[in-house]
Amino acid sequence: MSRPDAVAGEAVIRPYREDDRPGVADVCLRTAAAGGDATGVYSDDGLMPEVYALPYVEYAPDLAFVVELDGRVAGYVLGIADTGDFIDWYAREWAPGFRERHPVAGPPTGHRPAYTEAQLVADGAGPERLRIPELDDYPAHLHIDLLPELQGRGLGRRLIDTLRAALAERGVAALHLGIDPANVGARAFYERLGFHELRSSRPDAPRFGIATR
Ligand SMILES: CC(C)(COP(=O)(O)OP(=O)(O)OC[C@H]1O[C@@H](n2cnc3c(N)ncnc32)[C@H](O)[C@@H]1OP(=O)(O)O)[C@@H](O)C(=O)NCCC(=O)NCCS
Repeated sequence: MSRPDAVAGEAVIRPYREDDRPGVADVCLRTAAAGGDATGVYSDDGLMPEVYALPYVEYAPDLAFVVELDGRVAGYVLGIADTGDFIDWYAREWAPGFRERHPVAGPPTGHRPAYTEAQLVADGAGPERLRIPELDDYPAHLHIDLLPELQGRGLGRRLIDTLRAALAERGVAALHLGIDPANVGARAFYERLGFHELRSSRPDAPRFGIATR
């Protein structure tokens, strides 16, 4: 008998577990170059996950959902219900360790990403960039990533629906997200799902929002 949540072959959406942590970090790295593989782009492959994935599962494991494929993590959506509270937590609990591990950008790798390692290290060092003007109306935010073999099969839509439902259940009215301006596929995806561009969105830092129901 097939499982009710099984789609796209063996891909299954389920709640995050503590032992998913390395898998989540790996998916983050492999989708971090404007949606493509960022392995080797920065001097430390751990940097991207340390900024964009691991603090999320550390702070809100109950709002993280993974896609499991053949026993490994191949995608996720990571949510934060109250970005203001997350900013306070990040500054207090996450940023000090991050700054200790990554006091400065590492040596050049031969890649020249538009999002430089200096910028990435600066973004990891503190959370104030997350304090967008629309936080009162769009308090939640998310990150979503799927490995290439799972893209274009409806799982992104299902992950967003899963997180929106979990947020709505907690009484959170709306969420926002930021995208890399080079990630045209992600932009098309969010627009297709009904996200709208926020007032504070800029060409170099696009931002979108949507109600949770
Ligand atoms: C962006 C991403 C999460 C989308 O998930 P997905 O599973 O590929 O998208 P889905 O198959 O659920 O698509 C949902 C809808 O969006 C549309 N869509 C998705 N990607 C699209 C694209 N690149 N261009 C146009 N439309 C697109 C689909 O056609 C679909 O429309 P429909 O439901 O009306 O048929 C996924 O492709 C991904 O992880 N990409 C790499 C990492 C990344 O860019 N993450 C986002 C960072 S902000």
